[in-house]
Amino acid sequence: MAETKATLSIDGKVIADLPIHSGSAGLDVIDIRTLGSHGYFTYDPGFLATASCESAITYIDGDKGILQHRGYAIDDLAKKADYLEVCYILLNGQAPTLEQYDEFKATINNHTMVHEKLVHFFHGFLPDAHPMAMVCAVVGALSSFYHSDLDIDDPKQRMRSAHRLIAKMPTIAAMSYKYSIGQPFVYPRNDLSYAENFLHMMFSVPAEKYIVNPTIAKAMDRIFTLHADHEQNASTSTVRLAGSSGANPYACIAAGVASLWGPAHGGANEACLTMLEEIGTVDRIAEFVAKAKDKNDPFRLMGFGHRVYKNFDPRATVMRETCHDVLKELNIQDPLLDIAMELERIALEDEYFVSKKLYPNVDFYSGIILKAIGIPSSMFTVIFAMSRTVGWISHWDEMLSQPGQKIGRPRQKYTGEIDREFVPLKVK
Ligand code: SDX
Repeated sequence: MAETKATLSIDGKVIADLPIHSGSAGLDVIDIRTLGSHGYFTYDPGFLATASCESAITYIDGDKGILQHRGYAIDDLAKKADYLEVCYILLNGQAPTLEQYDEFKATINNHTMVHEKLVHFFHGFLPDAHPMAMVCAVVGALSSFYHSDLDIDDPKQRMRSAHRLIAKMPTIAAMSYKYSIGQPFVYPRNDLSYAENFLHMMFSVPAEKYIVNPTIAKAMDRIFTLHADHEQNASTSTVRLAGSSGANPYACIAAGVASLWGPAHGGANEACLTMLEEIGTVDRIAEFVAKAKDKNDPFRLMGFGHRVYKNFDPRATVMRETCHDVLKELNIQDPLLDIAMELERIALEDEYFVSKKLYPNVDFYSGIILKAIGIPSSMFTVIFAMSRTVGWISHWDEMLSQPGQKIGRPRQKYTGEIDREFVPLKVK
């Protein structure tokens, strides 16, 4: 079949014929790589309409509220798989057999501990250091432990980095929490599931036996799955761009942690809970909704809106169910959930939000569940980063496995001064 082309013409003059490529789903793409040789760049700050790469990991249809990892629907995975199965799927492209799953779990378990020297990095932080600051620094520090035996062109060595990061992130995350509350670090236990082990490292203390609540462990595992990957979001694109120069993978993941921290991205779950606490009572919701709608007010409703979803975020749907299950199971009456439910109702009826298709996103409910589990809001984005590490490292690995991979180097529309004469401060 003849290749489809897009013809670019300006003032009636044909500038270029640009190939159009189709993927297995989603929008076709116009290949603009030769456009520079025709004297033009495209202009797309924020990348609203730019495909930065070719990927087979995650597919999102924002209008239909579809999210699939390697073709498996997110609600299926959240309800029928555990997080380690989802990690295997994202890394390897298909669901594991029971034997492959057991081998993968054993491999991850072999890497759950961190080098004892890594502990000293925490003791440089002030007691009130934000856990995300600690995680960003300590994950970056891992690059000083694993730099010699790392040939990133060797798929096996790339996969070993992936296994190490998936295994160590819960340990580092829990260490950042323990350091922030002045309790001793807790070593991982490989007889526990991934989620149980994280809760154990977060909440057990040497003085008492800690029993993991299975409902909380199940909710935790589901939260990990719902945050595992999400196509070319800001933090994943950060990891890809950092990795495109051939940088150390642990340093690339630290860059992803840094990007995720922003309140417009993964920091929204913490910001959402802070917002709900600031609203305080149901009767103040209208005041905050008005602020969110005021063009002159920079305030936005945290947990609402999404660059891609112009329909309900499918993760938010599953998260909402989990939220109600956890609060019911733990018999928690959380006034913040009452405020959240009323805010959701108002926002979904309000013309401003309806016209702009601003629905609750994944961050809206996750904060309430995590608070119900007893996790402080300063740890919410750390848990997001821990969950998303498998997505970040899967994209890093996919990018490096693709032939002809180039360093990412965008261009610009220059609006500064040109050809100015430089006058020295004083005649020498
Ligand atoms: C995540 O990309 C991903 O996939 C991210 C993520 C992932 O899994 O990796 O899904 C995780 O980051 C979810 C998003 C969490 N962030 C928040 O909840 C913060 C609040 N949301 C907004 O900051 C905003 O909705 C964004 C950042 C999420 C999306 O912003 P866009 O796509 O750049 O859209 P926009 O800012 O251009 O907004 C379009 C319009 C604007 O009004 P107009 O200029 O057209 O008049 O909608 C308004 C915005 O002012 N708007 C909001 C709003 N979000 C957008 N108005 C009030 N409250 C909001 N939350």
